[in-house]
Amino acid sequence: MSDVLRQLRQQQSRAGARPRLLQRFEAFLPVDDATPLLSLGEGFTPLVHARTLGRAIGCPMLHLKVEGQNPTGSFKDRGMVLAVAKAMQAGSRALICASTGNTAASAAAFGAHAGLEVVVVLPQGQVAAGKLLQAQAAGARVVAVEGGFDGALRAVREIMDDPDPGHPMTLVNSVNPFRIQGQKTGAFEVCEDLGGAPDYLAIPVGNAGNITAYWKGFSEYRSAGLVETRPIMLGFQAAGAAPLVLGHRVDAPLTVATAIRIGHPASGAAALQARDESGGRIEAVTDEEILDAYRDLARYEGIFCEPASAASVAGVRKLAAEGAIDPGATIVCVLTGHGLKDPDTARREAPLPVLEAEPSAAGVRRALGW
Ligand code: F0G
Repeated sequence: MSDVLRQLRQQQSRAGARPRLLQRFEAFLPVDDATPLLSLGEGFTPLVHARTLGRAIGCPMLHLKVEGQNPTGSFKDRGMVLAVAKAMQAGSRALICASTGNTAASAAAFGAHAGLEVVVVLPQGQVAAGKLLQAQAAGARVVAVEGGFDGALRAVREIMDDPDPGHPMTLVNSVNPFRIQGQKTGAFEVCEDLGGAPDYLAIPVGNAGNITAYWKGFSEYRSAGLVETRPIMLGFQAAGAAPLVLGHRVDAPLTVATAIRIGHPASGAAALQARDESGGRIEAVTDEEILDAYRDLARYEGIFCEPASAASVAGVRKLAAEGAIDPGATIVCVLTGHGLKDPDTARREAPLPVLEAEPSAAGVRRALGW
């Protein structure tokens, strides 16, 4: 190969290479020369202007941050890449987490990539099929416990309280500060794509790590002089488990948004601080409201997210209907996970049945009623 051709190829491969999250936002992250630059292609997810749905709900400047496009299909990858890199740097040999599924899938993937042992503790019968299969496919050891997410987190915290020096292990739930540090990059990207902070940032709340991370990200970008304002933060919990919303029970029947069914959010205090500092709200949304938003996102915008994700849009729709949101405001709803995570809900909610036909043009036409 000629030198010119070789040079051209190198240029092309550099131009085509996806940037690494840990490098792109290095100035804002606790990375140094000894931090392994892991990457499965996390971050740099699209911000989509939802024109049709926005108009329909009276918020024409509605935008969607599509976090389902991360490598394991959820926002968890932003924080996991840093948590796992720092675990490697510290000489850890294993990762452990409690999870409603997405943290487990992300830990399993990055753990496999880094050559670490992974143990995930899940609430029995509450994890969507896709998430469980992702963790299993990546070779994580999966332990199911009775009693929901809170019991699973208690169990792993007890394990971490009594460490085995011969088996150095890292907890990769969002109580691990590197998770929050990595996840705040979502806020940076939103600011860069919009050319400033939005007026509102709406987000589903479970353990309250992500709302905490976004608020931190917006605050750091403002302190660095990169944006002038911060958004009003709107957090939405599933009505069956809305501990941060006054008067809501946490023991109601199982909700469709199992990913955010958490009775004692580990970052609850930080979430309330984000709400209060931003003049925002944390509210509950019902299963019906979540499923309406879930169906509409796929049908009108082509964005298939998992049910818990749609809590952000369901909440904005509700507040807009109450007249609580200025119609001219720029709103970003974070869609936290991909629709394929939960094929059972997708099947139940599919708007159209599968038609059966003979394998011929006439047969297909007949089935379509043409
Ligand atoms: N959306 C999805 C799809 C989630 O999986 C989660 C949390 C959240 C929102 C809430 O984020 O906890 O930072 O407030 N899932 C965790 C898990 C609990 O184990 O995968 P949060």
